[in-house]
Amino acid sequence: MRKKIVAGNWKMNKEFQDAEDLMFEIVDELTEKGSGDTEIIICPPAVYLEMSSDIAAENGFMVGAQNLSQFDSGAYTGEISASMLHSMGITHSILGHSERRTYFGETDKVIADKVDQALKHGMTPIYCCGEVLAERQAERHFDVVRNQVSEALFHLGKEAVSQCIIAYEPVWAIGTGVTASSAQAQEMHAFIRSLLTEKYGMEVSEEISILYGGSCNAKNAAELFANKDVDGGLIGGAALKAADFVAIVNSFQ
Ligand code: 13P
Repeated sequence: MRKKIVAGNWKMNKEFQDAEDLMFEIVDELTEKGSGDTEIIICPPAVYLEMSSDIAAENGFMVGAQNLSQFDSGAYTGEISASMLHSMGITHSILGHSERRTYFGETDKVIADKVDQALKHGMTPIYCCGEVLAERQAERHFDVVRNQVSEALFHLGKEAVSQCIIAYEPVWAIGTGVTASSAQAQEMHAFIRSLLTEKYGMEVSEEISILYGGSCNAKNAAELFANKDVDGGLIGGAALKAADFVAIVNSFQ
């Protein structure tokens, strides 16, 4: 049975006290409402990882980074390595988010190196893929996602790829209030799973959780998560409100 997962991507939001308050609000909501068997991963800005992981460890959820370096260690000013994160008890990292691709020039090659770093140091990559609006309008979205998935993940063996989580985040849905329809999400998730089946076989593809991201909120999560191949969500804006985030966590049927 593959895992149901809801991950929160806080992006570059909140100063320290607000971030700590939000963490405790999430803890309160989870205590009150529970979380069923959904795995929860919160990805705050890097400077708050230590504070967050201390709180998470006591409250049964996990903390992930939003990024890590493609390099092992050494003279890379400003970078944070997978081994550093792992040594702080950080279990996951978002990799290849469209904002990193767009604003920081990350290519599939760089992202593939980051995936390798994460796996080498025992961390779980949350690998993001997804097309921009023009690509969907030109009906190139399947080709785009096929290329992204194959270039960043398909050098991995069966065992390594089984450690990964994939997030389909159509760029036109991120932060826009325009969500992919339930049918569009299911169609792309089934496509991604079919790529994994083709490359690695059913046993592997059926075990990999594929999350949906892009204007997913407390109102639309249940419909999205009801799809056979949608195993949860990677949540941006709605992850900044404790009640909304925990409502999403509890949106599985
Ligand atoms: P929104 O939920 O704000 O659209 O962001 C999605 C996202 O980019 C999560 O990584």
